[in-house]
Amino acid sequence: MGKPKRIGILTAGGDCPGINAAIRGVGKTAIVEHGMEVIGISSGFAGLIHKEVMPLSEADLSGILTLGGTILGTSREKPFKKKGNGSIDKPKLIKKNYKDLKLDCLVCIGGNGTQKTAWQLSEEGLNVIGIPKTIDNDVYGTDFSFGFDSALAIATEAIDRLHTTANSHKRIMVIELMGHHTGWLTLYAGMAGGGDVILIPELEYNPKAVNRYLLDRAYKMKPYSIVVVAEGIATPNGESAADYVARMIEKGTHMETRKTVLGYIQRGGSPSANDRILATRFGSHAAALIANEDYGKMVVNRYGETSSIPLAEVAGKTRLVPQDHSLIRKARSLDICLGNDCLFINP
Ligand code: F6P
Repeated sequence: MGKPKRIGILTAGGDCPGINAAIRGVGKTAIVEHGMEVIGISSGFAGLIHKEVMPLSEADLSGILTLGGTILGTSREKPFKKKGNGSIDKPKLIKKNYKDLKLDCLVCIGGNGTQKTAWQLSEEGLNVIGIPKTIDNDVYGTDFSFGFDSALAIATEAIDRLHTTANSHKRIMVIELMGHHTGWLTLYAGMAGGGDVILIPELEYNPKAVNRYLLDRAYKMKPYSIVVVAEGIATPNGESAADYVARMIEKGTHMETRKTVLGYIQRGGSPSANDRILATRFGSHAAALIANEDYGKMVVNRYGETSSIPLAEVAGKTRLVPQDHSLIRKARSLDICLGNDCLFINP
């Protein structure tokens, strides 16, 4: 038997529920099943640049499954981003520290930006494995990333709560959800929460059509409406989605309108049961890839199964909601307004 493998784990980009479950999944499987040594790296790639690390024993990984956030800390450090002349060569420093720390593999838990950096480091000769996490569900190549299911539950509950207050006051309620440049969270939470209008970046919207649709609901004696908008929709002058849409509705319908921006509540707190399981599967699969020295891969979930694809396939891409997604078709068949083709199927 050769010397035990030594792996480093880092978490980068925006946090989300389930990261600690993934750290535990990789770390425990690596230690218990494969006899490896595990090093935790602080604050994403910044920790690898500044060599801020800590050994992680099996005991250190106990009791973290249900914890939100990340025990390692995170940052949005992008080491390959070009800075001015004279700035430190971060990729070079990372390679040096990887070698000094005697790492056999680096596990990068993060979203699209992190997976791109992971690929760049693997192109530089490091052994790297990526694990996708994000509430946005926009990591290319995987049907689901952990974090999404937990955020979906929080966003759905928030929309549920808007129904009662909207009904009491006969108002239109606009709620803005996260999702970066994609509409996965808004589409799913909008459908789960009974949104009447759902606006996502992947589908263009027409203010007149939205207002007509809301007026039509009022004519049909529907006392209130819920409008769920993604933060990434296009707005004039880059105004925030909630601000613009609420103003556009009040001006166009003269109905009393209120807005809510759910914000970071969507990213905080304990992971859902599904996210705990997905993160554990991802982590344990990552450890198996390392044991087989099958590097340069990102773990994915496709058709309910855990597997992996080359990081090269993922890097620099975003997973958008397809315009013919089954949930979009279902929304249309329920006469939910998606911004343009609000046709009043049952006038
Ligand atoms: O990618 C996760 C996410 O929460 C997005 O939904 C949001 O646009 C962004 O991060 C917010 O970033 P920050 O944490 O840098 O404010």
